[in-house]
Amino acid sequence: MADFSKLADPGSPEELLVRRIDRERVPRHVAIIMDGNGRWAKARSMPRVEGHRAGVAAVRDTVEASAQLGLEVLTLYAFSVENWKRPRFEIWTLMNLLKEYVRKERRNLVNNDIRFNVLGRWRELDPLVVREIEQTLEETAHCKGMHFNVALNYSGRCEIVDACRRIVADWAAGKRADIDEETLGRYLYTSGQPDPDLLIRTSGELRVSNFLLWQIAYAEIWVTQTLWPDFRRKDLIEAVLAFQSRERRYGGVLQPESPGMELFSSSRS
Ligand code: FPP
Repeated sequence: MADFSKLADPGSPEELLVRRIDRERVPRHVAIIMDGNGRWAKARSMPRVEGHRAGVAAVRDTVEASAQLGLEVLTLYAFSVENWKRPRFEIWTLMNLLKEYVRKERRNLVNNDIRFNVLGRWRELDPLVVREIEQTLEETAHCKGMHFNVALNYSGRCEIVDACRRIVADWAAGKRADIDEETLGRYLYTSGQPDPDLLIRTSGELRVSNFLLWQIAYAEIWVTQTLWPDFRRKDLIEAVLAFQSRERRYGGVLQPESPGMELFSSSRS
């Protein structure tokens, strides 16, 4: 079980929230659609890219707090295949921020036993970005703590297409697997990881934006008005508390005599 002692300073408002967390029902995987960077910058009469720059501090705090919460997996949506439609300067800045983050954070990830992983067609990115990613993947490969996924040049539909292509390629090579949910899951970028229990979206938008389409089938969704650059561990803990207050039924019904306990007539356990 996680040790929450580092999650909040004694006497801080966060500490009161931390005390309310049920340690036995912490989500295994939290996925976040980081949104609102542009609006954050606009509200301050700054260029959009300043919102992305400020968003890096939110990434740092979220990664640290997620590991301290004891999450098995944290996934952040950093750049979608649709984001190539943005102005060139914005794309260039985002790629630089990512490259610098990956480079500077490498040691910190290793020190905290966090394993870095990238979801998406990231090998198509600028070779300098690819190189920094490869090095961080390599250096954190032995880490046994939280898996930290960054979705980069990512699309949920492309992920399913890529999985199908790899299944077909394996079939052609004589490695035949049944086509079922278990097989498809094994060919996704998140192979071997639990599906997200909780999907967070910042900035109040009510869309899934082509993110982890297969994996979020049973995820609880929590949307906050907070813009991503302002998102901090307090928001993450609030999301976890909201998640713990939900009743997860996976399409089944709860037995009336034991509310909140056993699942009745469910296809999943
Ligand atoms: C959405 O806000 C945010 C993004 C497309 C990029 C997120 C990237 C970062 C926070 C930078 C660094 C990331 C890592 C992992 C180091 P938006 O620009 O769509 O906001 P808007 O809807 O207000 O315009």
